[in-house]
Amino acid sequence: MTVSRRGKRARTWVRDDTEQRGIGQTVSRRTIFKLGLLGGIALPLSALGQPADRMRPQPGDRLVFEEGPNQGELVRPELLDLNQKPVSALAQDPETEVLRDGSRLNRVMITRIDVDAMGERYRGNVAAGVIAYSAVCTHTGCDVIDWDAEKLNMACPCHESQFDIYEGGKVVGGPAPRPLAMLPLELVDGVVLVAAVFRGRVGFTQQF
Ligand code: FES
Repeated sequence: MTVSRRGKRARTWVRDDTEQRGIGQTVSRRTIFKLGLLGGIALPLSALGQPADRMRPQPGDRLVFEEGPNQGELVRPELLDLNQKPVSALAQDPETEVLRDGSRLNRVMITRIDVDAMGERYRGNVAAGVIAYSAVCTHTGCDVIDWDAEKLNMACPCHESQFDIYEGGKVVGGPAPRPLAMLPLELVDGVVLVAAVFRGRVGFTQQF
């Protein structure tokens, strides 16, 4: 619990996509474990894990275009123009080919930047100019799908927050309280892969 500026009690709540789950999926692990014991069933631990399509992008995953002329193709730097409007992409497990499309928090927006013009501390997250940020606005969770081509900022259509893609997704306008999460990438054999889990928290925090 936190206290708002107006002095009222307010609860901070990190919104994710759990509301999209069906009733069966909201059963807790403890409940499943108890049911398993009551039924004399030995449940393998893997059965209790998160489905692969809902897992956040994992190191070694490939990136696949979700939209645009290259929809369905693996992301390669030459398929993106310099400073083009970001397009959405999803991670894919390279072994099972499962696309991690089971949660909207997994979606990233990608484009290609001039790495030399980028803040030095962020350059290690870029693969031959390709950069990826979470598509979910940190204000109230809309998809950040707009693009200010003049300022090279990603923009949110809901309340006009703007994020500087050359400075780690820093907020440069609007009400968003924190930067977009960045997904570190690397280039292996000409293909863009996920290098590490998201830097920064994905999703949004709301006071009410
Ligand atoms: S949800 Fe993006 S600015 Fe409000």
